[in-house]
Amino acid sequence: MIEPFHIPDHKISMIVLSGAIGNFATVNGKTYSYFGGNNYLGLANHPLIKEAASKAIEKYGVNFSASRQTTGTADIHLELERGLSLFKGKDDSAVFASGYLGNSILIEVLRGGYSAIFIDESAHASIISAIRGEKASVYNYRHCDANHLGDLLQEHGGHLPLVITDGIFALTGEIAPLDKIYPLVKRHNGILVVDDAHATGILGKTGKGTPEHFSLQAEKNIYQTETMSKAMGGFGGFIAGSRELTDLIRQKSATYQASTALPPPVVAAGIASLKVLSEHPELRTDVLSKATWLREQVVTLGFRTTGNNTPIIPLFFDAPENAKSISLYLGDNGIIVPFMNYPVRHELHMIRITVSAAHTAGQSEVLLNLLKKWKLKYGNI
Ligand SMILES: Cc1ncc(COP(=O)(O)O)c(C=O)c1O
Repeated sequence: MIEPFHIPDHKISMIVLSGAIGNFATVNGKTYSYFGGNNYLGLANHPLIKEAASKAIEKYGVNFSASRQTTGTADIHLELERGLSLFKGKDDSAVFASGYLGNSILIEVLRGGYSAIFIDESAHASIISAIRGEKASVYNYRHCDANHLGDLLQEHGGHLPLVITDGIFALTGEIAPLDKIYPLVKRHNGILVVDDAHATGILGKTGKGTPEHFSLQAEKNIYQTETMSKAMGGFGGFIAGSRELTDLIRQKSATYQASTALPPPVVAAGIASLKVLSEHPELRTDVLSKATWLREQVVTLGFRTTGNNTPIIPLFFDAPENAKSISLYLGDNGIIVPFMNYPVRHELHMIRITVSAAHTAGQSEVLLNLLKKWKLKYGNI
C-alpha cells in the first residue's frame, strides 16, 4: 500500500553556498553531494582556470570600469574573442556582460532583417525579454513542435521569419529539433536563432553546440547566442559569427555599447577554459555518457523524464508538493537536487538533476538508491 503523502513542515530553505562548487558543495554550512547548477564539465573550480583568473586580478585589478565602446577594451578581451572565434570556427566573436543579454543584442542587430518572429512557447526568459516591445508580429509555436511551426509559417507566409528557440532547454534538457526546424526556416527564407547557453562545450563533435549536433554548423542564417557561465565554468556571454555580424554588434547594439566590459578575472577564466576544453575533449564525452547512464537508471526506477542525451535530467511530478518533497528528502540525506522554481513556461513540476563530468559513479549510485527508496515509499506520484 502506498503510504499517505507527507510534506515536512519546514519550508525548503534557501540554498546558500559557502564554498566552491564541484561534485560536492558546501550549502548552509554542510557538505552535500551536488547535482544542481550548470557546471557540466566541472570547470567552475578548475585549478588552471582559477590561477588564470587570479593572475589577471594581479595584473589588471578587478574591473576595467568602462564599456567596450569607450575605454574598456583590453588586450585580453581581444585574446578571448580570438579564442572563441577559433573554437567556433567563425570569423570573429563579441563578448559581453552575460548570456542573458545575448538574445537582446542579437535581436537588436538583426532587426530589419525579419518581419515576424516565431518562438518556441517554452523559450528561456532571456528570449522573451529580448522580444518584449517587438514591433514585428510574434507567434508562439508548440514546444519543440516543428509541424506546428511549419503550419504557422505557412499560415503567415509573406513574412520574413525569424525563428528563435533554445538549443538545449534549460529546465528539461530537451534538444530543439533543429534538423526539422531549419529546413522550414530555409524554405521561408528566414533566420534561425538558437540560444545555446546549455549546449556550448556539450553538444556536437567539437562542442560547438546544437547546430553542430545536427551537422548544420556550416549553414547560413543560423545564429547562436552563447555563454561562458555553464559548461565553460566561467562567466559572460558571446556571439560568434561573420565579421559583418560582429561589426553590427559593435556599431549598433546599445546593450553591447553601453554596458561595462567583462572584468579581467572573468576574461582570463574564459581564455583558460577554452584551453582546457580543447585539450580535454573527453570531458564532454564523459559527462554525456554519465548522463546517458543516469537517465536510463531513473527511467528504470519509473520516474518520468525527458529523452535527449544532455546533462540535464528533470524528474517530473503532477503536484508541486511531490517535487518539493523529493528534493527535501534528498537534501535530508545529503544530496542537493533542486526543486525548480524558474521563470520558464512548463506544465509539470520538477526537480532538475544536473550531471557533471566531476561526478563519481559512487555519488550517482547513492542518488539512485535514495530515489529508489523514495519511490518505494510513495509509489507512482
Ligand atoms: C537558455 C538560457 N539562455 C540564457 C541564459 C543566461 O545565461 P547567463 O546566466 O550566462 O547570463 C540561461 C541561463 O542562465 C539559459 O538557460
